[in-house]
Amino acid sequence: MSLSSRGEVNPQFWSGKSVFLTGHTGFKGGWISVWLSSMGAKITGFSLAPNTDPNLFEVAGIASLCVKSHIGDIRHLDDLRNAMLTAGPDIVIHMAAQPLVRYSYSNPVQTYETNVMGTVHVLEAIRSCKSVKSVVIVTTDKCYENKEWVWGYRENEPMGGYDPYSNSKGCAELVTSSYRQSFFPEKDYVKHGVAIASVRAGNVIGGGDWSLDRLVPDAITAFESGKPLMIRNPLATRPWQHVLEPLSGYLVLAQALYEQGAIYGNAWNFGPIDADTRSVKEVIELLIDQWDGAAAWKQDGCPAPHEAQSLKLDCSKAREELAWTARWRLEKAIKAIVQWQAVYRGEGDVRSMMQLQINDYCHSGRSI
Ligand SMILES: NC(=O)c1ccc[n+]([C@@H]2O[C@H](COP(=O)([O-])OP(=O)(O)OC[C@H]3O[C@@H](n4cnc5c(N)ncnc54)[C@H](O)[C@@H]3O)[C@@H](O)[C@H]2O)c1
Repeated sequence: MSLSSRGEVNPQFWSGKSVFLTGHTGFKGGWISVWLSSMGAKITGFSLAPNTDPNLFEVAGIASLCVKSHIGDIRHLDDLRNAMLTAGPDIVIHMAAQPLVRYSYSNPVQTYETNVMGTVHVLEAIRSCKSVKSVVIVTTDKCYENKEWVWGYRENEPMGGYDPYSNSKGCAELVTSSYRQSFFPEKDYVKHGVAIASVRAGNVIGGGDWSLDRLVPDAITAFESGKPLMIRNPLATRPWQHVLEPLSGYLVLAQALYEQGAIYGNAWNFGPIDADTRSVKEVIELLIDQWDGAAAWKQDGCPAPHEAQSLKLDCSKAREELAWTARWRLEKAIKAIVQWQAVYRGEGDVRSMMQLQINDYCHSGRSI
């Protein structure tokens, strides 16, 4: 990677690159599609149809940004492999997943099938697809064995996960590591030419997320219907970050994997600065402060399944080795969501708003 692009998403790099993106019909997939397409990348998407109404895929017209938008299931290896072979991508970004903790308690089999075998299938398809050079497998901050301590988790700490979602993502990490060692080892990089990394981001927020059981979407739905938001665990802390933060990390890492190869082929945390690992209550109060209209929250006393109380990521490795750091503080991230929501509510052009926010993000200074 040239020195000028260290830590920066480099539009020249992405211009003309073929990218196979799973999860393009989802929240993070929609945002990264807008970003990639604005830099001239050729996107082939592969995902299930969106499962919320409304959804970012339709609202922002994501299909029109793709060379090919497959509605397909990563649990079906042949379909996935055929789509990848036809696309012949340079880069694979695997984001498709069953990403919800609560849903995973009621649907553990589907969660493991999608998150574990789906990842096996993506890696298996890559084995057949000789054009691929750079692979980013998206897991989560919840993949670590949570010890409820105050320190941030580092990339070399043990995988774990209490609930099926978190655990399935720990398994996806182990699968990625096994495929890398068994089929794409660093010592044979000159022969196979494939560099594979996994990425663990924090709790991602941003305009255009309508998933159930996520704090900010639930809050917006409650406020817009004139009800208070019911919060199960106001004192739980999470590493909150705007969606553009981890996406910039994934793109910078994909560049490094492509240009520098297997030395970057390992695990990476992309979280906020420590000061933005904050409680659920603080996030909601910031949102209420900026919300244009009545908004309130109440403690939900109903019994709820186990969720970790505290979670923080140590991002020293990305900072030192990729020169990547977070850029937007939590207040700015919340402001961006409120602005996005106002455009959506006013039936404005949300895709243009997303592009404006991407441009703003790229020109922002670092958080530290
Ligand atoms: N949003 C967050 O806070 C967060 C935090 C850490 C990690 N992640 C990870 O980031 C990724 C994207 O999350 P998101 O927030 O955009 O979720 P999302 O629910 O908005 O999107 C999930 C995507 O996966 C696709 N998908 C699900 N099952 C599939 C299947 N069987 N076959 C093909 N496609 C399938 C969906 O169609 C959708 O495109 C996931 O891997 C998630 O675990 C998200």
